[in-house]
Amino acid sequence: MVAVTSQADQRLLERARRVLPGITQTYSKAPDQHVPGVYPAYLVRGDGCRVWDLEGHEYIDYPCALGPVVLGYRDPEVDLAVHAQVDRGPSFSLGTPLEVEVAELVVEMVPSAEMVRFVKTGSEATSAAVRLGRAFTGRDHVAMCGYHGWHEWCVGHTPRNAGVPEAVRALTHQWAYNDLDSLRGVLARYPEQVGVVIMEPVGVEEPQPGFLEGVRSLAHEAGALLIFDEVITGFRLARGGAQEHFGVSADLAAFGKAVANGYPLGLVAGRADVMELVTSATFVSGTFGGEAVSLAAARATLEKLRREPVCEHLWRQGAVLRDRFNQLAAAHEVPARMVGLAPRRVLEIAPHDGVDASALKGLIWQGCIDRGVLLGNANFVSYAHDDAAVAHTVEAFEYALAEAGAALRRNDVRETLRGLPPGEVSRRP
Ligand SMILES: Cc1ncc(COP(=O)(O)O)c(C=O)c1O
Repeated sequence: MVAVTSQADQRLLERARRVLPGITQTYSKAPDQHVPGVYPAYLVRGDGCRVWDLEGHEYIDYPCALGPVVLGYRDPEVDLAVHAQVDRGPSFSLGTPLEVEVAELVVEMVPSAEMVRFVKTGSEATSAAVRLGRAFTGRDHVAMCGYHGWHEWCVGHTPRNAGVPEAVRALTHQWAYNDLDSLRGVLARYPEQVGVVIMEPVGVEEPQPGFLEGVRSLAHEAGALLIFDEVITGFRLARGGAQEHFGVSADLAAFGKAVANGYPLGLVAGRADVMELVTSATFVSGTFGGEAVSLAAARATLEKLRREPVCEHLWRQGAVLRDRFNQLAAAHEVPARMVGLAPRRVLEIAPHDGVDASALKGLIWQGCIDRGVLLGNANFVSYAHDDAAVAHTVEAFEYALAEAGAALRRNDVRETLRGLPPGEVSRRP
């Protein structure tokens, strides 16, 4: 057994509580999102598919930094590119050739990408895409489906919308995945007012046949642009993201996370006639838009994705992990399943008589962390997750699910959990 929230963690958490609202900078990394008392609160190092906590405990890592780490921590080629760029400098007074080179790679790899604008985060990328869609169509209303970040146009629609003016909230309308009628409903309620239909092309639920094509047709018939939020799917489901994987293209697509293997870069890419508006009619520009270290990381990442079977590896290893977990859960009679496409899997707990789903999830995570495997709410896989790491993880699943099955039979799931159950993940609207 390796993990308890250590004394070093506790001391740092105390300091954090005094100076950092929410304790961590990113909501999904806060201790209450995992198993406080069992999970480490801080990580200080990563290498390949492994990470280390403050006390030097080692874990095979599946959140992959919430998705960005697609090649593995400290990928040698990305490291080389980054170190070389650090030696030259991170930011300059004029543009850098890297802007052109990375944009060319994106245009080559991503279907429908004719031009590219760089930003730093996924939220900025989706917001820039929505701004462009509104500018192109001259319409203010947005029909959205999924999570798109923290900016006003989308957060206004969630329970945490304090600070977003009512006038802004009234312009965004949620519709439901795999439900074309719900999109039809929004488009009918606001005739000739919806300029943008934005969606995650896939989340946990897979698209029904014809669904993505149907969204595209409905958006275009209504005179709106279709934007794919590929912040998670981009450079992961396929080299060209969900657009390549599902064979459906959008007018614009927003990317972030995996594009630079952990360095902060986002981008919006799409039709040239829309992208041109970035400077001619509206304004999407920032001091760090051409920050060179992240662009150097992106160039190395995209070149490796283009050259090597990275995405194929993610599908293969992810499928082994998902399928073996589900077989073992069934064998130990634990009402838990890994669901979602192989490259990104989520642990789902089925309702079960008298069992607190959150405590059961925490208990499975506890068993895994005890065996050196760090799971999160969304579990990815990187090019560095080799067969040995996957085999070790399957052994951890076996242990964790056997423990969970025994606790279920004894009816003491909550008592077996050494910490607190994970909090509700409420960031998604
Ligand atoms: C689908 C999707 N879109 C947008 C975002 C926002 O990206 P960022 O957190 O980099 O601002 C996220 C982040 O998790 C996301 O999952």
